Amino acid sequence: MGQEEIRKLLLTITSLGVLMLGLIVMAIALVLTVQFQPKWLESWFSQPEKKEVLLAEETEEEWTSERLEEVGLVEGEGLQLVLANCTNCHSAKLVTQNRFTREGWLQVIRWMQETQGFWDLGQNEEAILDYLSTHFAPEPRGRRMPLEVEWYSLE
Ligand code: HEC
Repeated sequence: MGQEEIRKLLLTITSLGVLMLGLIVMAIALVLTVQFQPKWLESWFSQPEKKEVLLAEETEEEWTSERLEEVGLVEGEGLQLVLANCTNCHSAKLVTQNRFTREGWLQVIRWMQETQGFWDLGQNEEAILDYLSTHFAPEPRGRRMPLEVEWYSLE
């Protein structure tokens, strides 16, 4: 190999090395930014922000604890959301008279959304479902105790 060729070879190897180094540094930088997601990057990565949920305009209703008891609502996490979203179109009693599983409550909500003009609950939906499925779940067993049957043997 002539000197010229060796020089070229060395040059190629060096440039390749520099290129690789550059790529590695970029990869590390990318991993770090994705990992730590600085504020200024958030807007790029996060999906378009979920619509801010409109809480229906304040109802005139004053929710005193007597009033809550009257309609059968219980204090608990999510109550405020239920008051804000579920008492505008019908009485809160319509809510409290019903018992559903979480799945069942979701179906009721979807039904109202599809047919009754009920709005999208956005990220509040989870909290509302938690509240409803905790406090208004189906009774674990029938309302009536099983009949006590006295068995007798046929002669
Ligand atoms: C946009 C209006 C609207 C809002 C807000 C609304 N509903 Fe309803 N909902 C209705 C209508 C209309 C009916 C049917 C009423 C009737 O049959 O008299 C209904 C019926 C119901 C029923 C009875 C369903 C059945 O199968 O009989 C339940 C339970 C209920 N709503 C719960 C809720 C809950 C819980 C919320 C809040 C998460 C809510 N509603 C918010 C409009 C609404």
